[in-house]
Amino acid sequence: MEYANPKLILGSEIIEPTKIAWRSPSNIALIKYWGKYGRQLPKNPSISFTLDAAFTETEIEYQSKAPGTAQGIDIDFFFEGQKNDAFQQKIEKFFHSILDVFPFLGQLKMTIRSSNSFPHSAGIASSASAMSALAMCLCSIEHQLFNPFESDEAFLRKGSYVARLGSGSACRSIFGGLAVWGETGEVKGASNYYAVPVANQVHEIFHDFHDDILLISKEEKEVSSRAGHGLMDENPYAKLRYEQAGRRLHHLMQAMKMGDLERFGSIVENEALTLHALMMTSNPSYILMKPNTLHAIEKLRRFRKETGHPVYFTLDAGPNLHLLYPHASVDAVQTFIKSELASLCEKEHWIADQVGQGAREI
Ligand code: PMV
Repeated sequence: MEYANPKLILGSEIIEPTKIAWRSPSNIALIKYWGKYGRQLPKNPSISFTLDAAFTETEIEYQSKAPGTAQGIDIDFFFEGQKNDAFQQKIEKFFHSILDVFPFLGQLKMTIRSSNSFPHSAGIASSASAMSALAMCLCSIEHQLFNPFESDEAFLRKGSYVARLGSGSACRSIFGGLAVWGETGEVKGASNYYAVPVANQVHEIFHDFHDDILLISKEEKEVSSRAGHGLMDENPYAKLRYEQAGRRLHHLMQAMKMGDLERFGSIVENEALTLHALMMTSNPSYILMKPNTLHAIEKLRRFRKETGHPVYFTLDAGPNLHLLYPHASVDAVQTFIKSELASLCEKEHWIADQVGQGAREI
C-alpha cells in the first residue's frame, strides 16, 4: 500500500498565500512499537491511548514560488515564535523524503509555525504530536489544491500514513480515543501503513481514562528512538518479543472489551517493563529508568494494594511514569500524586492528561 502519486503536481496557476493549521495530540502506547523495517514499518502491532492536554499546534502558510525559482524544498520554520534551524533541517529532510507522496511540496514556498502545549524540554516525546500535526497540514494542502479525497476516512488515513513516515508512533495520534497500528488479526482493517481507530470496540470505562505523567527527569533522551529501534535488529530476544507483542495485543483487547481493569493493568505494566528490559539487553545496553522511577513504581503498587484504586503505570523509552486509571479514581489518585509522588518529579512537575479526540483542524 503506497501513496506515491506523480500526478500531484501543479500547473501554471498562481497559488496565493493561504494558511492551514492543525492541532494534534501526543499518545501513550499500551503495547509498544519497538523495532522496525523498510520504510518505517513496525515489526509488531501496537496500541495507544490518544491524549488530550499534551499537543502540538502547527500552521503552514503556503504560496507559489516566485517565477523562475528552482524546484526544491523551500521552508522557513519557527518553533514557539523563534526561527529554529535545527528543526527546520529535520523538516526539510522529511519533506525531501516524501516528495514521491506530495510532489507539489517542491513547487511551494512555505512558512511553518509550530508550538507545543507542554515545555519542549519536559521529557515528553513530542515527535508524535509534531509529526501528526504536520502530516495533517500537508493533507489539507493537498485537499485544497487537488481535492482528491473521497471521504473523511480516506483523508484521515492518508494523514496517518504520512505521519508514520515522519515518526512511526505519530500515525496513532490522528484518531481519538484508542488506535491500533500494525497488522493483526485482532482488528479488522489493521495495517502496517497507517493506524485505525478502535475506541468503539472497547468498554466505555476506557473512553475517559486518565494518564497523569510524572516528569521524573526532563533531561534529553539518552538514546534516540531511531537508534533504539535499530538495536532491536541484533537483540537476542527480538523474535520472541515480536511474537509476544502480538499475543499481548490479543489479550489486552479482550480485557479492554470486557472492562477488566486488573487484566488490563497487569498486561500494560508488563509491557512497559518489557520495553525497558529490551533496552537493558541490547548492545550497547541502556538503563532508561532513574532511581525515582523505581521509587514511584513501588509507591504506586503499595497505594493500589492498600486502597484498591485500579491505577497502573506505563513508561515510554525514558524515565517518566504514566499513571493510567479510570475517571472515578481521579480525586484519590491526584491527591496521592500531590502528597507522595510529586516530590519524586523534577521540580515537582507532573501533567494531568486524559484520553482525547485526536487531530483536528484549528
Ligand atoms: O515513533 P518513534 O520512532 O519515536 O518510536 C516510539 C516508540 C515508543 O514510544 C517507545 C513506543 C510506542 O509505540 O509509542
